[in-house]
Amino acid sequence: MDAFDLIPKLVRSSLECDRKTIEATALMIAKKIKKERPEIAIEITKALSYSGYRGSMARSIDLQPLPVDKESRYSLVKVEEPIESMEPILNEYTRRQLDDFISERKILDKFLEEDIIPPNSILLDGLPGVGKTYIAKWMSYQLNLPLVTLDLASSISSYLGRSGQNIRSIFEYATSQNAILFLDELDAIAKRRDDAGDLGELKRLVNVLLKELEACPSSCVIIGATNHPELLDKAIWRRFDRSLTISMPGEEERKKLLVRHLGKFVKEINKETLEYLAQNTKEINSADICKLSEHIKRQILLNSNTPKTFIALSELFKIVQLGTREDKVKLCRRLKKDFTQLSLREISQITQIPLTSVSRYLTTNKEENNG
Ligand SMILES: Nc1ncnc2c1ncn2[C@@H]1O[C@H](COP(=O)(O)OP(=O)(O)OP(=O)(O)O)[C@@H](O)[C@H]1O
Ligand SMILES: [Mg+2]
Repeated sequence: MDAFDLIPKLVRSSLECDRKTIEATALMIAKKIKKERPEIAIEITKALSYSGYRGSMARSIDLQPLPVDKESRYSLVKVEEPIESMEPILNEYTRRQLDDFISERKILDKFLEEDIIPPNSILLDGLPGVGKTYIAKWMSYQLNLPLVTLDLASSISSYLGRSGQNIRSIFEYATSQNAILFLDELDAIAKRRDDAGDLGELKRLVNVLLKELEACPSSCVIIGATNHPELLDKAIWRRFDRSLTISMPGEEERKKLLVRHLGKFVKEINKETLEYLAQNTKEINSADICKLSEHIKRQILLNSNTPKTFIALSELFKIVQLGTREDKVKLCRRLKKDFTQLSLREISQITQIPLTSVSRYLTTNKEENNG
């Protein structure tokens, strides 16, 4: 088969607006004519890569009307133009994986020139508040592509027969826009097909999703996110080029989040307090650490005469679970040791442990041993 044989296929797929086949066929043609007509082959690969990288100006001109649910007329997606955002704070491994994905997308034309299929999908899983949505927005900024987020509530129609149709029009829209399609809460639509509780209709919906994921052209980036990776159909996992678990922030990440979000107020809190906050927020997700920083800043402004350490620790213990009596004893002792300036009353106010208990924990060895 030579390049000419592929022309009918190219024409057919163009008329049917089947981007994936257009891309694949054009690539095959470029490959076949590379030796004889290198300049045309380069032109083809350039055209392919540019079609995936149109600037936001061009995009806003040819923005199509948003896809809507036929019955309710509610929009099925939310579209956001890329906005500058700070890089997510993640552990090194995760950061490197994301960087690799972004770098690969940035050299799309090189991949196409070498007939290598560029990666176009990544699945993020992780507990709530670890930054999955934030990462999707940041990637939109990094890749200069609008973020088209699936609106789950309107897409999963109460009349399930329409959900498949909705999913199809969402993919059609995202691929025509060269955008990032963000499938948030993917578990809600992509539950395992063998799930006993599933209705036939829901299984068909998963099949539509699988088909659309498979057919999505490489110019469109897909980011999936889920808090329940165990609920996802294995076939869905396979459709994504990469999957990445976003972990809870480690001590180093927690400290970076605090420093970033406390901003200039970080100078008002001494180093020991900052370290203490970072060390004692193990169970707290990144989103709540950001919130904690905001609360501390507000309280510092409101109560300018109150010692900053007292404010910071008080806010910390509003969100940290204190646990058993033994934990409380340890906590009070550690606070007294690390922050010698704190009185028993202040420790009681910070931890919300009654003053009588605090003084007992700190003064009676016998009491502690008998527990
Ligand atoms: N890793 C992170 N780096 C920087 N900021 C973060 C990070 N994770 C969360 N945040 C902050 O917390 C906010 C909420 O996080 P986000 O909504 O991205 O979490 P999520 O993982 O999508 O949670 P959910 O599973 O509930 O949707 C973000 O807008 C951001 O300000
Ligand atoms: Mg989210």
